[in-house]
Amino acid sequence: MATKWLTNASQYDETLIGTPGEKDDAMNDLDATLAALSIPVLAIGQAGRIVAMNAPAEVLLGGNMSGRHFATVLRQPGVIDAIEGVQSGAPSAEAGFISHEGGVETRWRTNMANASTGGERITVVSFLDETWQADADAMRRDFVANVSHELKTPLTALLGFIETLQGPARDDPVARDKFLAIMAREAGRMDRLTQDLLSLSRVEREERRRPDAQVNLADLVQAAAMAMSPAADAANVTLQVKCAPDLPAVRGDADQLSQVLANLIENAIKYGLEDGTVQITLSSGSTDPRLPGPVQRIDVSDQGEGIEPHHLARLTERFYRIDSHRSREVGGTGLGLAIAKHIANRHRGRLEIASTPGEGSVFSLILPQD
Ligand SMILES: Nc1ncnc2c1ncn2[C@@H]1O[C@H](COP(=O)(O)OP(=O)(O)O)[C@@H](O)[C@H]1O
Ligand SMILES: [Mg+2]
Repeated sequence: MATKWLTNASQYDETLIGTPGEKDDAMNDLDATLAALSIPVLAIGQAGRIVAMNAPAEVLLGGNMSGRHFATVLRQPGVIDAIEGVQSGAPSAEAGFISHEGGVETRWRTNMANASTGGERITVVSFLDETWQADADAMRRDFVANVSHELKTPLTALLGFIETLQGPARDDPVARDKFLAIMAREAGRMDRLTQDLLSLSRVEREERRRPDAQVNLADLVQAAAMAMSPAADAANVTLQVKCAPDLPAVRGDADQLSQVLANLIENAIKYGLEDGTVQITLSSGSTDPRLPGPVQRIDVSDQGEGIEPHHLARLTERFYRIDSHRSREVGGTGLGLAIAKHIANRHRGRLEIASTPGEGSVFSLILPQD
């Protein structure tokens, strides 16, 4: 729905009533009460004049509005209708209000209700910032749409092949084997997707609780490289592991950290240079500017085509892929880095991505040493 702006606000006369020096005690009390509130609030008195406004409301609507008719200040029909509604007897009302400041749109929910001060009837209007909620709603909708889309593609393929096997290909053993192989691949894709979704929801649920077990990162790195060596061999990639000796254990969840390493190494193999080298380095000592205290870091570097800078910040978003077709070809779900980022957060660490297009990328997991 397009916002209808009130253009004929001049129908309300702009003469100010009273001057700031003349406020009575009741109005001073009202000012003091509104000043104690952290959300924007204003009060409208007789004849629709604004009688009080706190500092957040001045930031939102501008200063020096006392004495002006509310319609010349609020200027959005939904809010004006709602105020007129309570003034003519409705117990309370609500309306949306949109503000634009420096090109940023903020969505507010306004509440209006009648009250009285010093015997005068007033209408109190408060503003709640709903932007975060609108963003969260949009994210949830996108997420559901993405999941449905990701599941629908393999599911459609499966249904198609089931139908073919029940009908035309029923007695054709060669076609049957071929179709069953494709069906197994598509089912595998759905299986990976559901597993990644479950991991993601588990990690998100636990994110606020930092793990308290002690893990030796060198052991994890060695084990992850070992586990990924068949995939590396298949792509003719050499895995090179370098671990600084005698590092102390760090606080961590071994399974989750292994999951991060597996994803980073797998990505380096999949998106790196065929016949190239993937280097996995564990080091410590240097402190990270964004983390207090000493850290240990694991760098996974490849010699692939690298990543253009404008993708970098978005790679850890769910389902964000530079090349969806390629990711699906190599069995990706688009969730690996999102999971990795949540696991890093849970460990009070962070995931860092650096890349030079044409030369390769370095994905680093940085964890606090204690
Ligand atoms: N080492 C890498 N080199 C280049 N691009 C990468 C690398 N690792 C990840 N990416 C990009 O980031 C995207 C998201 O990675 P990820 O979350 O692991 O999902 P997936 O691997 O399932 O597609 C990949 O689709 C790819 O476009
Ligand atoms: Mg991946």
